[in-house]
Amino acid sequence: MDRLTIRRPDDWHLHLRDGAVLAAVLPESSRDFARAIVMPNLAPPVLTAADARAYRGRVMAALPEGSEFEPLMTLYLTEGTDPDDVAAGHAEGLVTAVKLYPAGATTNSASGVRDMDKALPALERMAEIGLPLCVHGEVTAPEVDIFDREAVFLETVLDPLRRRVPGLRVVLEHVTTAEGVSYVRSNDGVGATITAHHLVLNRNHILAGGIRPHYYCLPVAKREKHRRALVEAATSGDGDFFLGTDSAPHVDAAKETSCGCAGCFTAPVAMPLLAHVFEEAGALDRLEAFASSNGAAYYGLPRNDGALTLEKSPLDAPPKIVTGDGPVTVFDPGFTIAWRVAP
Ligand code: DOR
Ligand code: ZN
Repeated sequence: MDRLTIRRPDDWHLHLRDGAVLAAVLPESSRDFARAIVMPNLAPPVLTAADARAYRGRVMAALPEGSEFEPLMTLYLTEGTDPDDVAAGHAEGLVTAVKLYPAGATTNSASGVRDMDKALPALERMAEIGLPLCVHGEVTAPEVDIFDREAVFLETVLDPLRRRVPGLRVVLEHVTTAEGVSYVRSNDGVGATITAHHLVLNRNHILAGGIRPHYYCLPVAKREKHRRALVEAATSGDGDFFLGTDSAPHVDAAKETSCGCAGCFTAPVAMPLLAHVFEEAGALDRLEAFASSNGAAYYGLPRNDGALTLEKSPLDAPPKIVTGDGPVTVFDPGFTIAWRVAP
């Protein structure tokens, strides 16, 4: 097969940032994707429905002319999140999900949750109204090895939380481990996003033969057996797994430094890279489920009407995009991506 037309995809986990970076990165997502769940970890974070409304306005204003891209807004869960504000934001159609960042887990997570008990009123209300919780699934305790932080989170945070708040719908964001995949498979109401980069990276890619800051993200890529489990889950057709690119732009100055930020900027290459991976797995016929159907079904939203055509032709992506804050390196998997979006 050298041409594939699928229903227009959605990105169920995306960082658009703000200001000059927002203006530069947004067209890279709105070109291929109809909708995206927009992460709230700005500085300061998107805490309230009013914050989300204002941020949504800035996203809409930055959209290329004529674009029909729809940003789906999220709130950043804190120990002080007001359940009434969450419910009102959801009722007006503004808030599609709430995001849990364990405090200190990643970029701009300092206001995240330390004591889950304090977030219970908001979580209980979310369970009542069916509003999903998107979870950054890593513990932050310094004594836990960074490669174990997802698996430990499932056992010590997520499972107890789901017992305390029955009916809470949870998306395990950017799942990176075989343990995460099997947790999703064995628990109803739990879905997971998978990134494009975690389908092609293992931890050797980051560290062997030189340190590659543009492959560093959180959760960090794990061993090869975990990458394989992710490919298996993404290409299986199982409706619990759907695309969330976690495209996370940082300017090069913040990546190529002695303490570099976590994040891979994959938006410009995400769909071609997925086609490449799915073809290698003999699963091109399941790309549409992963990228265009499963997520909408999980969120109870209609599927998109439009289409996206991919063609087998080597991708010639720009190495960097220019932003008003400096260049941002585009994710390069280290091989030629065999597919591109048809012009
Ligand atoms: O690699 C990451 N980058 N992981 C996250 O969880 C946050 C993101 C960011 O905002 O840069
Ligand atoms: Zn993210």
